[in-house]
Amino acid sequence: MINTVEQQFRSYSQIVGEIPDNLESEKFITVERVPPIKVYSLGFQPAKFIPEIPRWFLKKYADPDFTILDPFCGSGTTLLEAIQQNISAYWLDYHPLSCLICQVKTTVFSTQEILEATTQIIEKTSTQKFAPATINFSNKDFWFQQPVQEGLELLREQILLAESSLQPLLWLAFASTVRKTSNMNDGMILAARRSHIEKIPIRSRSDVFQYFQHYVKQSIEAFVEWNPFLNKFDAKIQQLSSQDARQLPEQLKVDAIITSPPYINAIDYVWASKFELHWLGLVNSNQERLNLYSKEIGTERIPKQECKELGKTGYLHLDRLIEDIYYGKRYQATSGQNQLRSRVVYQYFMDMKSHFLQSLKVLKKGGYYCFSVGDVSNICGVEIPVASLLSEIAFDLGFKQIFTFNLLLKNRRLNLPRNVNWAGTIKHDTTIVLEKLN
Ligand SMILES: C[S@@+](CC[C@H](N)C(=O)[O-])C[C@H]1O[C@@H](n2cnc3c(N)ncnc32)[C@H](O)[C@@H]1O
Repeated sequence: MINTVEQQFRSYSQIVGEIPDNLESEKFITVERVPPIKVYSLGFQPAKFIPEIPRWFLKKYADPDFTILDPFCGSGTTLLEAIQQNISAYWLDYHPLSCLICQVKTTVFSTQEILEATTQIIEKTSTQKFAPATINFSNKDFWFQQPVQEGLELLREQILLAESSLQPLLWLAFASTVRKTSNMNDGMILAARRSHIEKIPIRSRSDVFQYFQHYVKQSIEAFVEWNPFLNKFDAKIQQLSSQDARQLPEQLKVDAIITSPPYINAIDYVWASKFELHWLGLVNSNQERLNLYSKEIGTERIPKQECKELGKTGYLHLDRLIEDIYYGKRYQATSGQNQLRSRVVYQYFMDMKSHFLQSLKVLKKGGYYCFSVGDVSNICGVEIPVASLLSEIAFDLGFKQIFTFNLLLKNRRLNLPRNVNWAGTIKHDTTIVLEKLN
């Protein structure tokens, strides 16, 4: 007898390479991927979607004169696809590190100039005795050894003096250096003190400089491959001035939105990138970092008083689920956690509703909204069918669902840091294509 997982797996359409244009709607698929070019992996982004998804959408639905928007741009996967298919794109993300990553990936860099600037930086930092102390944040000494702090400070000082057009790429290599030389174990997403932290090697200043050189080299290799695509691209990529997907500029008009919104209750992007935010000077205090987190869709930073109130979205099924979490029908957590989680879910869907309303304004008539999101999130034991609920809300506002498929997730590390009793893992990414009706 075969077990249910195996049975389930056999019912998936197993795709090798690209998702075909003629895929039937409602399918469950697995994708065996051809390794992508290096530029995709530049920059830290814990919940990327696979490029095959936006690529599939663009091949199936886009005309050559299409203009698209990604309002939750993350590490810029959609932009890389738009560039390769010569399609104009607008983008935004509320997170400054994501913005840096997208800026870098959409700019042509002279690999020679980067190399020269890096050699100069390393020469100067290696001979400096005195290191300033300009960066401060909570638990800095726990996560960064003293020589590492000095090395990072010296690098910062020199990057700030480098040619301004080269700085974004240098900052991105610096960001990877920060993560690597911290006392986090490789593969850890959140900086949380845990019992299973492995022994961390003692590091010197020169280890920091070596890692920086390593990450610059990685970027250079990526740009040797990527520059030819950028040079050939003659459409337009533009960052919007808005940094919030709930506020899109009124005058903007696009043919399609292609995106993957935040996963409910899965990744706290600000916590996950706390070190980079501070070391790159993207936030200047702990308070500024927390304020940034409040702007995230799916944030858990909600005033206690608000959490006491049971949220009502007006969507019957969703409201029942929100109530189940609130009253701990499936799982009674301690110290107000049920109320908090319930409010997080309520706020997430209300924020996504505001975002859909804004999207309707910027989409042309008949325009598409394609999104990919985890199919189900388990919150306090309550299964929230996120993808289908979002589609239901979108339908209510003036979209019609025209296509969907489910991709089996492999090796996706989401929800790791949470109490396993009340936070489950996401099994599929559901992709849904909506069409604007009027
Ligand atoms: C699932 S990730 C997108 C990943 C992206 N598709 C990629 O492949 O790299 C969701 C993104 O939404 C962003 N985000 C969260 N709240 C936002 C908001 N209010 N406005 C704009 N972006 C937001 C996060 O910073 C994160 O980069």
